[in-house]
Amino acid sequence: MEKKTTVGIVGGLGHIGLIQAACLAKLGYKSIAYDINSSKVKDILRRKMPFYEPGLEGLVRETMDNGLLHFTAHVKDLQEAEMVFICTGTPALPSGEADTSQVYFAVEEVARHRSDQALVIIKSTVPTGTCRKIAAFLQERNLAARAAIISCPEFLREGSGVQDFREPSRIVVGAPSCETAEKVAGLYSPPGVPVLLTTWENAELIKHASNAFLASKISFINEIALLCEQVGADIRVISKGIGLDPRINPYFLEAGVGFSGPCLEKDLKSLLRQFQEAKKEAKLLEAVLWVNEEKRGEMVRKLQAKLGDLRGRRIAVLGMAFKPQTDDVRDSHSLPIIKELLSAGASITVHDPWIKSPHEGRLAENDLPGVEWASSPYTAAQGKDALLILTAWPEYRKLDLNRIKDCLSVPLVLDGRNIFESGQLRELGIDYQGVGV
Ligand code: UGA
Repeated sequence: MEKKTTVGIVGGLGHIGLIQAACLAKLGYKSIAYDINSSKVKDILRRKMPFYEPGLEGLVRETMDNGLLHFTAHVKDLQEAEMVFICTGTPALPSGEADTSQVYFAVEEVARHRSDQALVIIKSTVPTGTCRKIAAFLQERNLAARAAIISCPEFLREGSGVQDFREPSRIVVGAPSCETAEKVAGLYSPPGVPVLLTTWENAELIKHASNAFLASKISFINEIALLCEQVGADIRVISKGIGLDPRINPYFLEAGVGFSGPCLEKDLKSLLRQFQEAKKEAKLLEAVLWVNEEKRGEMVRKLQAKLGDLRGRRIAVLGMAFKPQTDDVRDSHSLPIIKELLSAGASITVHDPWIKSPHEGRLAENDLPGVEWASSPYTAAQGKDALLILTAWPEYRKLDLNRIKDCLSVPLVLDGRNIFESGQLRELGIDYQGVGV
């Protein structure tokens, strides 16, 4: 039997890295996941997952048990890997520019610890031009012979990452030569999945443009939602009606408190920086960001319109994660909304099915000062002046609304994710307001 490629993953305990490592191991590749954070490596060796992702824990256990998935805190252990995936973060700098320093550091570390050449595949989302700059950076350090740079952007979503890996919408590989690009695409491209082999720059920009387009769809529908509230239309019906046109499609047309999380906003800001650097205007994309920021403030303004001065008001917030099926609160919309409520003088109790404390949300103790963490939506609602729904967790759709009404001291529900039907709550005597309904 032909020996399967050994793959290395840098940033192997992050969201993209761990999904990549476990899914490739499941396909039969020996996967060596390297992470600089040795305590996270110790934890996973004791079978403690660094985050929640549906279906991932079982896959990690299975592939560790069958000897295909390995974890290490030593970069030298990647020496035997023919392909090394770089899955490190590219957080936003205050200017909005993506900080690619971890990517450069990772590539250099990998190159310095090998004698032969590895295909080094950049999965991290990087500004257009980065792969070319990394190749020049390696050249300057006489390391080009040890690392051939390839761009292979990742399109998976948190919360459905394992499924997205198995059923990708497309595989995009950017490389200077077709031969190396084909090798990477050949590692995993299920039948029927389109494969696009292209240049570094095209691959990098496809990733940013995809996220910017998704963000634009959300801001578009959120803007139409504003008008719906004024003219008596229902945004859910509007979304359905326009989404039936196959040229538009029904995805990413759910109105709410806007997009958040570690990717869409950061990538949009990074793209805007790229426009600035190119001395070109991007009015449309600036508006996408602006609409999204306004949307968050709108929740607080709606609450003020109902309750007046928020000083001393007690508010329950359901949902801390930036979307359901994840315990990720990084750049979650819930954080700025809660902070704004706190600075308006309200006291806040939060509930999230997966995050029961600042520690579980990987938040610093003083990130949300004075906020109480409830063990159930009902304890969160007990004695409160309003309930805000900020994340569309499936369990919230099944809430006993009579019980919620009895818990609240003021029967007011602001639903930032449109999980309920207005009529249903109003019949129960709950003052209910969704977004664009
Ligand atoms: C996003 C992209 O969807 C992935 O394709 C991409 O690979 C990933 O970023 C990345 O760059 O790594 P993700 O951030 O996991 O994935 O989450 P999304 O499902 O895109 O949701 C982002 C935000 O938009 C969430 O806050 C969600 O609640 C919100 N959203 C989504 C809406 O408000 N309305 C919608 O119709 C859809």
